[in-house]
Amino acid sequence: ASLKSFNTFGIDAKAQSYCDVTSINKLKEILKEHYSNPLFILGGGSNMLLTKNIEALVLHINLKGIEIVSETESTVIIKAMAGENWHNFVLWCLKHNYGGIENLSLIPGNIGTAPIQNIGAYGVELKDVFHSCEAINIKNQNSRTFLKSECNFGYRESIFKQDLKGQYIITSVTIELTKNTHQLHTDYGVIKNELDINRIKKPTIQDISNAIIAIRQSKLPDPKEIGNSGSFFKNPIISAEEFAVLHQNFPEVPSYKISEDKIKVPAGWLIEKAGFKGKRFNDYGVHNKQALVLVNYGNATGKEIFELAQLIQKTIKRLFNITIETEVNII
Ligand code: EPU
Repeated sequence: ASLKSFNTFGIDAKAQSYCDVTSINKLKEILKEHYSNPLFILGGGSNMLLTKNIEALVLHINLKGIEIVSETESTVIIKAMAGENWHNFVLWCLKHNYGGIENLSLIPGNIGTAPIQNIGAYGVELKDVFHSCEAINIKNQNSRTFLKSECNFGYRESIFKQDLKGQYIITSVTIELTKNTHQLHTDYGVIKNELDINRIKKPTIQDISNAIIAIRQSKLPDPKEIGNSGSFFKNPIISAEEFAVLHQNFPEVPSYKISEDKIKVPAGWLIEKAGFKGKRFNDYGVHNKQALVLVNYGNATGKEIFELAQLIQKTIKRLFNITIETEVNII
């Protein structure tokens, strides 16, 4: 079976076998039979680059459902199943006037993969609203609840990418949102601009979502039109010393202070400065509006895109002496 329609990069890799998983019981049954065979867990396919065929049983996690677990006057706890599309879930929350994830509008992918890389954008990360998630241990098929404190969330990081990599399948995520008094996150200049353009002085969570959607659509390619996985690299975090050297050579470099000794530099800037922005090679290249995004114009292979990524990494190392890591999982 071709996985082309199951990964947002639109890479035409083949799966040895494929199974659509629509219930937890079915998932447990399949795992019981196949846990010792090679397995490949597929969610929204929005954060992976397939560089080869998958010699494994692909389990496509299609568990659906959204339910309110409990609520108080001011907050609500909502559980969403892993196979729900993230953005549809954001829209569902907005429809009910539940606040907290409006800044995470239009992020591709599914609920179940959101905790793995602690999705984040425009000043908000999943961890800010995360309550817990349920997961199944692949080996013994036991269910386990992970509280927020157990997930070791960091910038595009969690325990599911580190110590527990490949051991659990997340089946649902539970988050806590606000019901009427919302905490708005409008610090990002681009959000302020977008609200100003539309003359919005007292934004609602819906206004913020609309602003984020407009911003994202203006610089990020729609995977339905041009294959991509969002940011291909993480923004590097360097020491104050390293930054001093960089700043001396490139006084215009943008940066965000993380702590006294740690500074985050936008990889998009480094890649643009290195001359890659908008570069196209055959059917793949670097997006022309956001250099952090690599794109497949149609029939590129994962290998071609991976080689471009390596060339970019090498060039950034040579020019700036900075190592940039991939954000996307390379398969
Ligand atoms: N920049 C350039 N050239 C570019 C792109 C960026 O010079 O081609 C510089 C600009 O100075 C710009 C700065 O980088 O002001 C930051 O750019 P942007 O606001 O687009 O954000 P980013 O740091 O490139 C991160 C996330 C995005 C998220 C945005 C907004 C990572 C790896 N990426 O990108 O997440 O939407 O911030 O919060 O942290 C994703 O993970 O897939 C993703 C899209």
